[in-house]
Amino acid sequence: MGIMRSSLVAIALTALAAPALAQEEAPTPPSQHWSFQGPFGSLDLASAQRGFQVYSEVCSVCHSLEYLHYRDLRGIGLSADQIKAIAASVTVPQGLDDNGDPKEGPATPADQFKVPYPLPNPLQIGVTHTNEKADRAAHNGALPPDLTLIVNARENGPNYVYAVLTGYADAPASFKLMEGMNYNKFFPGHQIAMPQPLHDDQVTYADGTKATVEQMSHDVVTFLAWAANPEMVQRKQMGWRWVLFFLVMAGLTYAVKRKVWADVH
Ligand code: HEC
Repeated sequence: MGIMRSSLVAIALTALAAPALAQEEAPTPPSQHWSFQGPFGSLDLASAQRGFQVYSEVCSVCHSLEYLHYRDLRGIGLSADQIKAIAASVTVPQGLDDNGDPKEGPATPADQFKVPYPLPNPLQIGVTHTNEKADRAAHNGALPPDLTLIVNARENGPNYVYAVLTGYADAPASFKLMEGMNYNKFFPGHQIAMPQPLHDDQVTYADGTKATVEQMSHDVVTFLAWAANPEMVQRKQMGWRWVLFFLVMAGLTYAVKRKVWADVH
């Protein structure tokens, strides 16, 4: 038992140490200001909605968000009608038709976000993971990770993802960039299979916000931070309500005590 446990610990420690070593090669991402951080943080809904647009128009070509359902988008302030329209614009597998052939149709708010690559076999309806081989082949052997939890999965997540999205540059002359890879200042090892996804004015924001690379990166990180922590904002607000409640109760108790004892003296 003791031996098993200590070898398990050893394996766990090795697994933890490997990414830490790789990480040392990349500089610390600069800190940005995030609406959702800090004790009074609250999600900037407009930014999260713009970020959803960036995800839909750009990132969703390669990355899934498979733990989200369309109805979850209420959390970034979209209305039921908006969500219905968003879901209906996406075509998803819908079982088999009368001839036994796979059928497709518009998604509904109850559906999971559509996965960008074809399912391994059309009969595995309801199985949402991607076809890993097709995925890797399309991306120089690297797999675009699911983005639902990426902000939590990386140390200093929001600043790190922002830094990677804005960190593309020409490789220094001395740097040996492998065929098909891209130089990035903040990705560990500086070689990333993801081509620079964002360029100025790539999307057109309905609210007139200028779509610079920095702005789109900020918005999509805000959206992804919500996706990874949908209950975060609510929890924070609840927390402060309890603090206020107890302060008021403490004040009342004290006032009552003083009044009662004043009569006694
Ligand atoms: C053309 C396909 C493609 C598009 C479009 C794309 N990505 Fe990627 N992305 C990839 C691939 C491939 C990887 C894996 C890179 C690697 O391991 O070298 C990746 C990796 C990532 C990572 C993980 C970095 C890490 O630390 O492992 C993040 C975060 C990410 N992408 C975010 C985004 C966001 C946000 C967008 C939209 C603005 C986007 N990507 C658009 C292909 C894409």
